[in-house]
Amino acid sequence: MGKTLKIKSVKLKNFRNYESLGTKFHPKLNYIFGKNGSGKTNLIESIYFLTNLKSFRTKKRSSLIKKNTNAMYVGGVFSDDDMSKDVKLEASLFEQKRVYKLNNKTEQNLIDYLKSVNTMVFFPDSLRIIKDSPLFRRNFFDRAISSIDPTYLLESKEYSRILRERNKILKNNGDDRLLEVWNSRFFSCASNIFKKRTAFLELLKQKISPLKKTLNINKNIEIFYSKSLKYSHKKNTETLAYEIIKEEYEKNKEEEKIKKQTCLGPHLDDFVIYLDGDSSRENASQGEQRLVIILILLAVSDVYREVSEENLIYLFDDMSSELDREKRQSVIEYLMSSDSQVFITSTEKPETKNPPEAYSLFDLDLGGGIIR
Ligand SMILES: Nc1ncnc2c1ncn2[C@@H]1O[C@H](COP(=O)(O)OP(=O)(O)O)[C@@H](O)[C@H]1O
Ligand SMILES: [Mg+2]
Repeated sequence: MGKTLKIKSVKLKNFRNYESLGTKFHPKLNYIFGKNGSGKTNLIESIYFLTNLKSFRTKKRSSLIKKNTNAMYVGGVFSDDDMSKDVKLEASLFEQKRVYKLNNKTEQNLIDYLKSVNTMVFFPDSLRIIKDSPLFRRNFFDRAISSIDPTYLLESKEYSRILRERNKILKNNGDDRLLEVWNSRFFSCASNIFKKRTAFLELLKQKISPLKKTLNINKNIEIFYSKSLKYSHKKNTETLAYEIIKEEYEKNKEEEKIKKQTCLGPHLDDFVIYLDGDSSRENASQGEQRLVIILILLAVSDVYREVSEENLIYLFDDMSSELDREKRQSVIEYLMSSDSQVFITSTEKPETKNPPEAYSLFDLDLGGGIIR
């Protein structure tokens, strides 16, 4: 482990509310606190932006540019664990134009670089994984699977492409011969997606149990993969092999034609998160939902770390509103025990009880400087 880069410093110019900021970071824990509106989320967002070249809270890149200015700059220096080799990444936006630089050289393609820095962000909106539509949850889990299995991304894209073709044919009265052209590849993609989603949930389950102990959660947390293809009459349905899928589509042929669209398949599945046997979407309190989401995000990142043998940069926005003091301490200690770099924002100063031995503290109310 340890190929992942850590961020050593950041420089901002006209990024959100920052006219100009330059600051160094601690390789392990960075605790950023300040009043509401002091720029905590913006600072976290700048790190996320540098490592993902997009924001986690807006699709509109132009909103990152400070109001009444027409350009912004974010630059960061990253280095690997032994701090031997620095990598400098810079991103500038001028109105609609973007310029990215890697080690002072303008680059069009930063894919390789982006593979080596991985961030996991926790912020109040993460609750959407519980509250939002099945589409949102599918995207979340699909992204998590793609991060450990790049072929999954290709298969999902191919599935969506064939789905569009099939739906076009079905809209056009569903000629069997035309459908036949796509079907075999379609069933094979569907079957792979089913299998990989099921396998991923199994990996998550293994990570959730120890995390529950760490966070002192006594309730039962389960993620149920709710498939649109149901096989009540079949045994061993979990594998959802090609033949079974084909058979199921065969049975639904007439319905597809009436509805003029593909009515079965992984594009209609959902992931239902249960807390002590009840759907957390309907029955859990806001606090419980937050805890469940943090647990799932930590479990997803644990799976990622295990499979990819890479570490992550963790960004926790508004941690004090997400977790009570005791749980906060447990999460920090849990992350500190691995070699991850962690950023936490809060409106409160850190508890003096058991402070980790090494961390940097930023007080944005004092202008963003390191005070410890
Ligand atoms: N493009 C922008 N230009 C100028 N100010 C902005 C821009 N985007 C956001 N802000 C301001 O930045 C301030 C800090 O925001 P934020 O980082 O979300 O605060 P918090 O510390 O509560 O997380 C807010 O007052 C917000 O209005
Ligand atoms: Mg905030």
